[in-house]
Amino acid sequence: MREGPTLFRESGPRCITGTSGRGYPLRPVHPSIFESPPLSSYALLDSGGAEKLERFGPVLLRRPDPQALWRPRLSPGAWDAADLSFVRESDRGGRWEARQGAAREARGESPSWKIREGDATFLVRPTPFKHVGLFPEQASNWAAIEALRAEFEAAGESRPRLLNLFGYTGAASVLAAKAGWDVTHVDASKTAITWTVDNAEASGLGRTSMRVICEDAMRFARREARRGSSYHAVLLDPPHYGRGPKGEVWQLEDHLAELVETAGAIAAPTSMIILSTYAVGYSPLAFQNLFADLGAGTTHAGELAIPEAPSDASLAPRFLPAGFCARWARGCGHDR
Ligand SMILES: C[S@@+](CC[C@H](N)C(=O)[O-])C[C@H]1O[C@@H](n2cnc3c(N)ncnc32)[C@H](O)[C@@H]1O
Repeated sequence: MREGPTLFRESGPRCITGTSGRGYPLRPVHPSIFESPPLSSYALLDSGGAEKLERFGPVLLRRPDPQALWRPRLSPGAWDAADLSFVRESDRGGRWEARQGAAREARGESPSWKIREGDATFLVRPTPFKHVGLFPEQASNWAAIEALRAEFEAAGESRPRLLNLFGYTGAASVLAAKAGWDVTHVDASKTAITWTVDNAEASGLGRTSMRVICEDAMRFARREARRGSSYHAVLLDPPHYGRGPKGEVWQLEDHLAELVETAGAIAAPTSMIILSTYAVGYSPLAFQNLFADLGAGTTHAGELAIPEAPSDASLAPRFLPAGFCARWARGCGHDR
C-alpha cells in the first residue's frame, strides 16, 4: 500500500525547527488529523465529484459534500447502488430519492431505521437538510470522552459530569450516559431534543438517565457559571448561526470567545473541553490561540476526518475532511 498523508493523531501542530539559508528559523506547522475510529454500523465507501457514498447500517446513502473536490474511486455502478440519494432543490435543502429495489429501510415517505454503535442504538432519519441524525466524524470525540472516563474511573471518580452544548440528536450524550457519565444535554431545537430522548430510549436508558434540556446554549452556560457548577467534560459543537427557544441569537463570530471562556469557567480542575465546527471559516490555529487564553492546560487542534474504506490496496488512504476541532485538557492524560 502506498503511503497516505502524515497523521499527527492526538497531537497538536508541531514545529519542525531548522534554519533557512539566511539563518531565518524554519517552523513549518503540520496539520493534525483527528481520525474517526472504525465504526460497526457506518462506513464511508467513496467520495469525490462533490459527493460522498456512505453506509449507515443496511442502507447506502449518496449525498453532496462540497469538500470532495477530487475524483471518485468507485465505479458509477457502485454509486448507483445507493438506496437513497439526496437531490438538492434549493440552497437550503432538498429531498431523498429511493432507487428501485432499495433496501426495505429506505422505502416509504419518511424512512427511519436503527443502527447499533457500541452500547448505543441510534435512529437514522434522512432529513431535507441533508443530514441524517448522526455525524460519524464525531466518533473521534466520542473516543476521547471514553478515554477520559476510563481515566476518571481509574482515579476513583466513577460518575464524572459531562455537559453537551448544541448536543443535536444526542449521540455523544447517549454513549456517555451508557458508559457512566452524569450527562447534561442542551439543545435549542425541540425536534433534536425529541430525537435525543428517542435515541436514549432505543439505547435502553431510562427517562431520568440524563438531563435533557431545551434551552439556548449560551444562556445555559452563563447560568451554570453563575451557579458555580463544574463539569469534567464540556462538548461544544455550535453551528455558524442558530436561535435559542426564546429567540436568542447564536452567531459564532460574536459568541464563540465568550462560550469558550464560560466553558473554561465551569471546567473542573481535571477536565477537557472539546470544540468542533463545520464550515465556519476559522482554522484550528485560531482555536489553538483561543484556548490558550484559558491559561493552564494543553490544546490539541486539527481537522476531523473520516477515513474512506479502502477500495484498492495500491491506492493511498484517503480522508474526507469533516470540520475543525480543538481539545483543551487540564490535569488529565490529554494535558501533555
Ligand atoms: C452542528 S449540530 C450539533 C451536532 C452534534 N453535536 C453531533 O455531532 O451529533 C448544531 C446543533 O445546535 C443546535 N442549536 C442551534 N442554535 C442553538 C442555540 N442557540 N442554543 C442551543 N442549541 C442550538 C441545533 O438545534 C443543532 O442541533
